[in-house]
Amino acid sequence: MRYIRFLKTPRLVYDKQDPEALAKAKVKCLVTITSDLGDSFFPHEIVLWAGLCPCELNSTPAILKKSKWTSGARYGLDIEIPVGTSQTARGQRPLQWPLRVYVGPGKAPVPQLYDDITSGRHCGILGAWSGPLDPENGRKEAGKLVERQVAIGEGRSLRIMEETGESIARHLWDAGFMLACHINRQVLNGNFWDRTAGVLQPPAGKKRLQVLELGTGCGMVGIGIAQVIQNADIVLTDLPEAEGIATMNLANSKSQFALNTDAIFCSLKWEDDLPFGLNQWSDYPPCTQLDLIVAADCTYNCDSSPALVQTMCNLIKASPQAKVMIAMKVRHEDEKVFFSLMAKAGFIQTHKQTDQFPGDGGDDDEMEVFEIYIYEYGQKDKKAEMEECEERLGSAAAQKVDRISTLETEYQSVLDRSRKRKR
Ligand SMILES: C[S@@+](CC[C@H](N)C(=O)[O-])C[C@H]1O[C@@H](n2cnc3c(N)ncnc32)[C@H](O)[C@@H]1O
Repeated sequence: MRYIRFLKTPRLVYDKQDPEALAKAKVKCLVTITSDLGDSFFPHEIVLWAGLCPCELNSTPAILKKSKWTSGARYGLDIEIPVGTSQTARGQRPLQWPLRVYVGPGKAPVPQLYDDITSGRHCGILGAWSGPLDPENGRKEAGKLVERQVAIGEGRSLRIMEETGESIARHLWDAGFMLACHINRQVLNGNFWDRTAGVLQPPAGKKRLQVLELGTGCGMVGIGIAQVIQNADIVLTDLPEAEGIATMNLANSKSQFALNTDAIFCSLKWEDDLPFGLNQWSDYPPCTQLDLIVAADCTYNCDSSPALVQTMCNLIKASPQAKVMIAMKVRHEDEKVFFSLMAKAGFIQTHKQTDQFPGDGGDDDEMEVFEIYIYEYGQKDKKAEMEECEERLGSAAAQKVDRISTLETEYQSVLDRSRKRKR
């Protein structure tokens, strides 16, 4: 997947001395198309659309402009939108500020369809909506936030803000994006036979589903669940540096939550003990008995895997029936550390599913692999249990056969010795 990022966020440029300045103004920004890690750039030519749009969802752009990203543009593509010229040339009515800048692979600045993003249509590129520009109220520069908008079905969308900078916690990662979209699509289609949607149903006898997300970042997974699962309590957790962006996204999306569902943010560092509330079960209604612990794109750094697994162990002590859902983009061999630590800690893998998406949009490019795992604590799936049982029975039987043949040999030698003595 690739993300449109603002290297320089949109700003209005005009000559302050000129009385008609605003009519002659330009909105300028510098964009790039990069991976979630920011370590590679979209290597093909593609047409990008840039527009000045009203802040409301699905609104018609006031001005739209075509630009071309070329494979050599890794240091950025300058985009200039002439505000006033287009306005007067086309005879439109004066612009109604505030306006936001949209840059994306689709001509219409509307929430992107998941199938468009993951297919050749949008080449795996997620568009960006800047913060508002409002020169009449002194805001000539958009802030350091961008919004991603994905259509999830039934006329609904997932909207998540992220920072334009390099912070790991304050921007969106591929596995979080994929998992949130996958869950939303399965649940909205009623595919509860899909295991990832299946674990989002409260266990028999429980009225509310209790979910805790580790390493939530901007909160896309937890918020995605909150938008489609009714009667749920969801706790999004991360380092304190994610609190601002996660709580902002929670506040912005609250009106879209499913019936009787609530979600909150709580700081939780994996290296620390569980904070008050997360281990004081009776005092903290959302966590009295967790049904699901979820983590997306948290396994890429093997140095933090021991602490991550230890946190899961601490959580599972109070909620031994909780299932664990892990989503990852396969990045490197070291990620296996996490999975062996999970097995050593007594978590049993009961489900794995794999999806592939085009890497950079070209036919001959490598595919990117996404995996979703479900774990249960100390409960073996029937097949593994049978195999282990057969193995144990097999080795016990083999030991018995060995013992019998040893006894036979000993018996034979006693017989031989007594025959010799008799002679
Ligand atoms: C790659 S990001 C994934 C964010 C989000 N789940 C997503 O997919 O967009 C990893 C997240 O784990 C969090 N994290 C890393 N180390 C952590 C630790 N020791 N304790 C708590 N959170 C941690 C980071 O702050 C970050 O938000």
